[in-house]
Amino acid sequence: MELFDVYSLFDVTPVKASGCTIWDDKGKEYLDLYGGHAVISVGHCHPHYTAALKEQAERIGFYSNSVRNPLQEKLAHMLGEACGYPDYSLFLDNSGAESNENALKMASFHTGKDRIIAFRKSFHGRTSGAVAATDNPSIVSPFNAVHKVTFCNLNDAEAVESELAKGDVAGVIIEGIQGCGGINVPDDGFMKELRSLCTKYGAVLVLDEVQSGYGRTGKFFAHQWNGIKPDIITMGKGIANGFPCGGILLSPEFEAVKGRLGTTFGGNYLAMACAIAVLEIIEKESLIDNALNVGNYLKENIPVKSCVSDIRGRGLMLGIEFNCSVAPIRKALLYDKHIFTGVAGNNMIRLLAPLTLTKEQAGAFINALDEVI
Ligand SMILES: Cc1ncc(COP(=O)(O)O)c(C=O)c1O
Repeated sequence: MELFDVYSLFDVTPVKASGCTIWDDKGKEYLDLYGGHAVISVGHCHPHYTAALKEQAERIGFYSNSVRNPLQEKLAHMLGEACGYPDYSLFLDNSGAESNENALKMASFHTGKDRIIAFRKSFHGRTSGAVAATDNPSIVSPFNAVHKVTFCNLNDAEAVESELAKGDVAGVIIEGIQGCGGINVPDDGFMKELRSLCTKYGAVLVLDEVQSGYGRTGKFFAHQWNGIKPDIITMGKGIANGFPCGGILLSPEFEAVKGRLGTTFGGNYLAMACAIAVLEIIEKESLIDNALNVGNYLKENIPVKSCVSDIRGRGLMLGIEFNCSVAPIRKALLYDKHIFTGVAGNNMIRLLAPLTLTKEQAGAFINALDEVI
């Protein structure tokens, strides 16, 4: 049997990793500024994380959500305190897309309405509702396209209000910082206005923090830079450092109805052990502050040559925009300098390093980039 060939692959085979370092099958060492697409939060194979996973696997790996699981309660308590939402409740699932799917479903249950407002250049995942709210027609099948979704331009509060005023909108979904769409940071004033508009028209404000959350931008969630509180926050990626896990935080406004949400694997023991270890490491090693400090260092020191048109983002969620295609630059970084980076569109290098990145490692990237551009 062959693999279903949907991924464009780099010719690298990682076999071992530690912190921000990866080794391939030939023993070559790489610096990871991509974090497996913003997933590696506390560094690869952190000893506290691997010990927690191993210990849990030896104790009990899985049972269903029909029995008490104290690890879920422990995570909910720790997460509430760590992220500043102790009065919200947590529903655990398996991925970012599933989290957004559940959030949109809850917005619709809660309001009895069925239309969603999303934003141009958004990415919310590949499941039915999440992909319908994603501004990329090439990945939306006719089956997905039947969802009622209206796209507005980011930062256009007037357009959002004119849609909300029609009275049929269940919710508005927006990324804390747009990731795949090109590291677009929404205006502070717009985010505040969006919050009041959703309240005014009774629509649920869903903040997709799948990529921008979990400390990546220098606050636990990116929207906390705007001083607003969404009704639902969605999470994934860094929550369990690579063990599949996702979740949503719901404000106290939402009623929990038995059976309304559910999943087989969500909240399983292994994912919980990983997610708890991640929060412990984030706190013990002050990784949110580190993300901000090292992110600022990168931003200030990335070489501003004539081919660089913009550098934007927050903390360790950064985009370097070029006025040319970045494909050759990324290739040179990977094959000549042995540095993993991400991309957004054709012209942007996207940096989503583990939150443990040091200034020294950031410096190595800066020097390498300087040499290849
Ligand atoms: C903002 C955002 N939302 C949702 C998703 C989907 O997450 P997953 O791939 O875990 O389903 C992603 C993935 O890149 C994302 O960046």
